[in-house]
Amino acid sequence: MRIFLDTANIQQIKDAVKLGVISGVTTNPSLVSKEDGAYRDLIVKICGLVPGPVSAEVLGETAADMVKEARDIITWAPNIAVKIPATAAGLEATSILSKDGVKVNFTLCFSLNQALLAALAGAAYVSPFVGRLDDAGHDGMALVKEIVEVYDHYKLGTQVIAASIRHTRHCVVAAQVGAHIATIPYAVLTQMLKHPLTDVGVVRFREDFKATLKS
Ligand code: E4P
Repeated sequence: MRIFLDTANIQQIKDAVKLGVISGVTTNPSLVSKEDGAYRDLIVKICGLVPGPVSAEVLGETAADMVKEARDIITWAPNIAVKIPATAAGLEATSILSKDGVKVNFTLCFSLNQALLAALAGAAYVSPFVGRLDDAGHDGMALVKEIVEVYDHYKLGTQVIAASIRHTRHCVVAAQVGAHIATIPYAVLTQMLKHPLTDVGVVRFREDFKATLKS
């Protein structure tokens, strides 16, 4: 499973990139609204920090508007994926753009049917929102598992991005059920590495080694 960072914060992206495990970034309008600067400038900056795809979302409501916006967004940098919502207009736009080779991240996906349609429309990625499903009393990771199984069964090439990740357990289960990618907030990324026994072990090794120097 690959890991993308789910943020539009430049410092977080720089810090995460240093760890060498991030292969892409996902943004959304809410994440972008928390940062300073113009939308395009921010996305261009992020694209320069990571080699892999950076998802930038369209805001139009009709398929025609989404397609127009997407065609502009992809000129901003070579590594952009366009996020398009799982609506009828979004599906139409996804079909048009995918046929032209644009990488679409079909976002705000909350059902297997939406994910199946995304794949049939040629989307490069589909993003089931795990945390938001959990919040609504459903099992978000069960949906990720179902999508992976159905895509495997029919050999559909769309990659599953486990999104709306809230905690490290989500990362574990995303990997277990075969999500191709998990897009995770910076705080969750740092938590993934943490283990109290590692911290205790590091301290003990240092102390034991220092003790040998004294004798
Ligand atoms: C994914 O691409 C979205 O940006 C994100 O995961 C949404 O997460 P949230 O439900 O925490 O807002």
